[in-house]
Amino acid sequence: MLLQHRRALVTGAASGIGAAIASAFAAEAAALVLSDRNPAGLAATVEHCRALGAACHGVIADVAEPAGAQRGVDECVRLLGGIDILVNNAGMLTQAPCTELTLAMWDEMMAVDLRSVFLASQRALPHMLQQRWGRIINIASQLGIKGGAELCHYAAAKAGVIGFTKSLALETAGQNVLVNAIAPGPIETPLVAGISSAWKSAKARELPLGRFGRAEEVAPAALLLASDPGGNLFVGQTLGPNSGDVMP
Ligand SMILES: NC(=O)c1ccc[n+]([C@@H]2O[C@H](COP(=O)([O-])OP(=O)(O)OC[C@H]3O[C@@H](n4cnc5c(N)ncnc54)[C@H](O)[C@@H]3O)[C@@H](O)[C@H]2O)c1
Repeated sequence: MLLQHRRALVTGAASGIGAAIASAFAAEAAALVLSDRNPAGLAATVEHCRALGAACHGVIADVAEPAGAQRGVDECVRLLGGIDILVNNAGMLTQAPCTELTLAMWDEMMAVDLRSVFLASQRALPHMLQQRWGRIINIASQLGIKGGAELCHYAAAKAGVIGFTKSLALETAGQNVLVNAIAPGPIETPLVAGISSAWKSAKARELPLGRFGRAEEVAPAALLLASDPGGNLFVGQTLGPNSGDVMP
């Protein structure tokens, strides 16, 4: 019951890490609003969280757009009476050498993986500041720390998420709104499904742990940051469930 009486919005909850975080929060008695642009996946996660006993609602929304970010926060406030925890998890991945990156690819990545974090945080903050309690958890990536070949746009967006996290944490910690990031290593989710198995095997051999993580192995880090007292002293941190890929 770590999150009893907490009201949480999790973005990108139709799949992968977002679905695992939603389930972990539901199992700890949080009330949830889940957003995604994938209706079928979202409905499945909502159903699963309800089966775990949670009050849970789905919102179809594109978090890269101001209206989508607003809808998620508004629905959380309307349906649950407020917002205590925001998990900015929605994200996408494309790959190209820098010489072949188009402006459209760059802009889409910045909108989905970085701008979305700003948009939802800015809309949730007034509620959190007013009640002097809030937790914002941003899902970055270890590639935002170490970089990745053919991933300039993704690594830049995720490094941006880490910088945003630290800056906002400085602004709001004094009002008990704690902002932190999680930078997972390679995790077996649909996001990496398109990458060749040869590349994945080679990458797994590089990892000190020798394997990719699973989404449910990332979710406990979010639960820790969201919980009280577990998360109380984390301010502007970037936790690294990454199989040892990065040791900052
Ligand atoms: N899988 C990995 O190896 C890995 C590693 C590090 C970080 N991450 C990050 O974790 C987060 C979750 O990724 P995942 O691996 O679970 O991927 P995933 O593809 O399984 O889930 C991402 C979810 O985000 C949703 N989404 C994407 N764009 C959206 C938008 N504009 N509006 C609303 N929803 C949108 C998708 O529909 C999907 O349900 C992402 O931010 C990703 O960058 C993943």
